[in-house]
Amino acid sequence: MSDNVAFEEINEAKSNLDYIYDEPDPRNYFRELGKLDYAIPDLAKPIFQKLISHLRIRKKDTIHVLDLGCSYGINAALLKYDLSMPELYRHWGNRGLLSATAEEVAARDRAFLSNLDEPANIEMVGLDLAPSATAFARKAGLLDEDIVINLETDPLPEAAREILEPIDLVTSTGCIGYVTEKSFDRLLPAISQGQAPWIGNFVLRLFPFDPIEKLLNEWGYVTEKLEGQTFPQRQFSSAEEREQVLEQLCERGIDPAGKESEGHLLAEFYLSRPANDVAKYPIEQLLSA
Ligand SMILES: C[S@@+](CC[C@H](N)C(=O)[O-])C[C@H]1O[C@@H](n2cnc3c(N)ncnc32)[C@H](O)[C@@H]1O
Repeated sequence: MSDNVAFEEINEAKSNLDYIYDEPDPRNYFRELGKLDYAIPDLAKPIFQKLISHLRIRKKDTIHVLDLGCSYGINAALLKYDLSMPELYRHWGNRGLLSATAEEVAARDRAFLSNLDEPANIEMVGLDLAPSATAFARKAGLLDEDIVINLETDPLPEAAREILEPIDLVTSTGCIGYVTEKSFDRLLPAISQGQAPWIGNFVLRLFPFDPIEKLLNEWGYVTEKLEGQTFPQRQFSSAEEREQVLEQLCERGIDPAGKESEGHLLAEFYLSRPANDVAKYPIEQLLSA
């Protein structure tokens, strides 16, 4: 069985939430995912912030972040504007917004963001196949640049190479599985034009990371998994999803007892960096304190 067939099969175990991924604004996304206690961007935030702090030791000015599967700019809201998921749930779930148009929501968000404290010195580039979601993130001022592409099926447009050249850090939450080694294969020539960026992925235990790790290794990357920690991504959406996910995990030789069996899809954190950087600061040292 090829790796891509494996990803497709595993995806079938999860509920299909595609209908909320490309709306003109994030209200439905937050309404639906709020019901499932979707929390992974909040759990990822302190880890990504530590990586950004370390990258600042060698680069004092703007840190360029590429967020894969950026959706409505959620990791941008957390990392650049220091917001939290509970704040975003409140913000986009506000009953006063019920009759607003998407344009009004974006305009309100622009004003809201401009009244916050000085944003972190980060340039956020978002990549997603959902044009309406990324357009919203640009209009609201969450993303500085967006790249709308499905790298699973299409090559990277030439124009994106310039945007990707300065990337220092690649992030993803809730994205691996939709995005496989195929996308990384198309991305790596563009993001490795300058200094090879660090790549941090939160990956459901359901999905194998080895095909991506193997490809990254061919590009000189060493991948470390943060051992002993799992991160609840969201609750199961139904008993059926729970059953199918537990079955898939067992088939892959992963024991869900006391883990996913308690009710949440669980992610792990994988950090891929050039070998020299790994030798200097192993992941535990990098993320401690
Ligand atoms: C579960 S959402 C995660 C969004 C955001 N990162 C978060 O954590 O809230 C998955 C995202 O992956 C995007 N996606 C799905 N397939 C993709 C692909 N082939 N390339 C890029 N993005 C993709 C979807 O459009 C959606 O925005």
